[in-house]
Amino acid sequence: MGLIARGAKGLEAAAREVEQAGGEALVFAADVADPQQVEAAAMAVEERFGPIDVWVNDAMVTVYAEFLEIEPEEFRRATEVTYLGMVWGTGSALRRMVPRDRGVIVQVCSAMCYRGIPLQSPYCGAKHACKGFTESIITELLHKKSKVRLSMIQLPGLNTTQFTWGRTKLAKQTMPVPPIYQPEIAADAIHHAAYHKRRQIYVGIPTVLNILGERVAPWLLDRYLARNGFDSQMTEQPLDTRGHDNLFEPVDEDRGAHGPFDELAHAFSPQYVLAKRRGAVLAALGLAALGAGAAAGVRAAR
Ligand SMILES: NC(=O)c1ccc[n+]([C@@H]2O[C@H](COP(=O)([O-])OP(=O)(O)OC[C@H]3O[C@@H](n4cnc5c(N)ncnc54)[C@H](OP(=O)(O)O)[C@@H]3O)[C@@H](O)[C@H]2O)c1
Repeated sequence: MGLIARGAKGLEAAAREVEQAGGEALVFAADVADPQQVEAAAMAVEERFGPIDVWVNDAMVTVYAEFLEIEPEEFRRATEVTYLGMVWGTGSALRRMVPRDRGVIVQVCSAMCYRGIPLQSPYCGAKHACKGFTESIITELLHKKSKVRLSMIQLPGLNTTQFTWGRTKLAKQTMPVPPIYQPEIAADAIHHAAYHKRRQIYVGIPTVLNILGERVAPWLLDRYLARNGFDSQMTEQPLDTRGHDNLFEPVDEDRGAHGPFDELAHAFSPQYVLAKRRGAVLAALGLAALGAGAAAGVRAAR
């Protein structure tokens, strides 16, 4: 497995976890905003392990602030990592997968691919772009009748490290919008998408509600978020400025996979369990509908 990030300590810790789980890891201290660094990493992975089967685009950075407080270079950087990082990763993967006619690219996306929220304009803009870009590539591959697949994982608020090191101009510590889920659920969805034919997976009931709400009554969500979307992204803790921030350079520490919200985060999502077993759920609903139809037919005949 190849692992890309900028910080050596986080990479080494992730590689140790891969090895403890029985795998082999090759790490690259690379910046996904630079297509040449991403391409060099892809080349080195194939030299070591052979053809890449699964490529996961996951890196992100952001700036928590109202739009007018964000400098152009900060906005550009968040876009270049969060959006273009996905574009360059997809390019390096596709250049290898398309000629072989096999492989899967998993785009780690968000409910924010569908719905913008306050204080996160660089991130929401980039995530919307990730979705549009991915849909274009899906249609191009279908047009070619390619067997290469792309899958998007639409995630809810997760208890990850981004809230401890994302650049922020807010006075209080940032947090994911509750309800919050543990990152293992996201990891399971990414793994599931890599090995099952899924165009997209919604993870967590907040994701489903956000996406449906945006489709049905975006104006209502505008008003709801204008009222609730500011406080819901901040804790009561004053900002801890130690180890901030990771926008242009990594905070070179191993902070693990979890953020500071273990006590608030759900380790289980019934919605995701059903989404993962979509086929079985649809079959059960079909059987239930057939049963109800048959019972109604019997009653009518009597
Ligand atoms: N946490 C949530 O609430 C949430 C919700 C929905 C979706 N997501 C998605 O989940 C994915 C992961 O986010 P996260 O919450 O796990 O963030 P995170 O804890 O901050 O992790 C981000 C990772 O990206 C790496 N990275 C950042 N900039 C990079 C760059 N320029 N080049 C290479 N690697 C870079 C970081 O390592 P270095 O700093 O060492 O480079 C780190 O390993 C993102 O796609 C995000 O949109 C998260």
